[in-house]
Amino acid sequence: MTSVQESRLLRACRREEVDATPVWLMRQAGRYMPEYRKLREKWGILDLIRNPELAVEVTMQPIEAFDLDAAIIFSDILPILEPMGLALSFVRGEGPHIANPVRTAADVDSLRTVPPEDGLHFTLEAIRLAKRELANRGVPLIGFSGAPYTLASYAIEGGGSRHHINAKRLMMSQPTVWGNLMSKLANAAGAYLQAQAAAGADVLQVFDSWAGELSPDDYRHYVLPHTRTTVEMARQSGVPVILFGVGTASLLELMASTGADVIGIDWRVELDEGWRRIGHDRAIQGNLDPVALFADWDAVRSRTDRILQQANRRSGHIFNLGHGILPNTPVETVKRLVDYVHEVSVR
Ligand code: CP3
Repeated sequence: MTSVQESRLLRACRREEVDATPVWLMRQAGRYMPEYRKLREKWGILDLIRNPELAVEVTMQPIEAFDLDAAIIFSDILPILEPMGLALSFVRGEGPHIANPVRTAADVDSLRTVPPEDGLHFTLEAIRLAKRELANRGVPLIGFSGAPYTLASYAIEGGGSRHHINAKRLMMSQPTVWGNLMSKLANAAGAYLQAQAAAGADVLQVFDSWAGELSPDDYRHYVLPHTRTTVEMARQSGVPVILFGVGTASLLELMASTGADVIGIDWRVELDEGWRRIGHDRAIQGNLDPVALFADWDAVRSRTDRILQQANRRSGHIFNLGHGILPNTPVETVKRLVDYVHEVSVR
């Protein structure tokens, strides 16, 4: 058994040679797994997140089922908003809902700064427990947070949103209020990531799922400085940081300028072109279309081959989907994919 520091994932983050390409899947613990659905019959998602024993049980489900190179702690990007003063709930079938969304300067001023050890202690405890379970397997644990823009979009819209009208209006019309909100979120996310590393997380991922909705110029002016704050704070803890976004083909150079060790890309960019743009002095994560897993195995295999060929055995590729795994994904295909990535990438 190799130590966590010498695991494929950690070596790839440092762009060192690996015996085979590491693979994990965003949202690998979730509804496509029967074991997860069984727990969800009894508990709400926030119940699972707030109970460290249950959160660890969910974290371990995909590790038991597949030969994955990383675990990711079971939580969500949105609970960080609760100690700040936002009332979060998950409505079955509809996703997240915030009863008192941020809309005005006064709303931004009233957002509280609470140390993560107080407001998010359950996830930090889950990390400590999960590390114990993972220790004898040599599997690293990923901690995570939302990036300031994606958090701001939920905080302002009050839930999922197609066009982000309220969030972008605030950004474009009231840049000072926007800047105050973004710096509060950037610091909260940075502190939370530091606390997760202190609790034992080996790698930290920053999810900027909605950054791709922005023009490059708006991203550069209104978002990048805050994302950089979060990434820099996370990197101060000494663990590698992955910055992931969706639809970010035109933002890759800017994302790389945050200093993140690894950039996560989706399937809308060719992996080799994405890597050139990010720079080969960085590691890259991605980028299979999660919908491919619903197709015949031959279709999954050819797309996986293409991604691995584009990575060209260069050190620093972490195989992943280009976005989270979807509900109803066939479990058998997931198992086959994970094994196949290892098998064909063996050095
Ligand atoms: O990767 C993992 O296994 C760790 C757990 C994890 C969850 N959410 C659990 C979850 C992670 C890393 C997330 C990140 C997350 N959450 C993001 C960023 C990544 C992305 O996919 O873009 C975002 C935008 C959210 C917000 C969120 N959480 C939404 C929009 C929803 C509802 C839609 C949906 O997918 O169900 C959630 C709920 C959620 N978070 C579920 C899970 C397993 C499903 C809830 C359920 O069990 O019903």
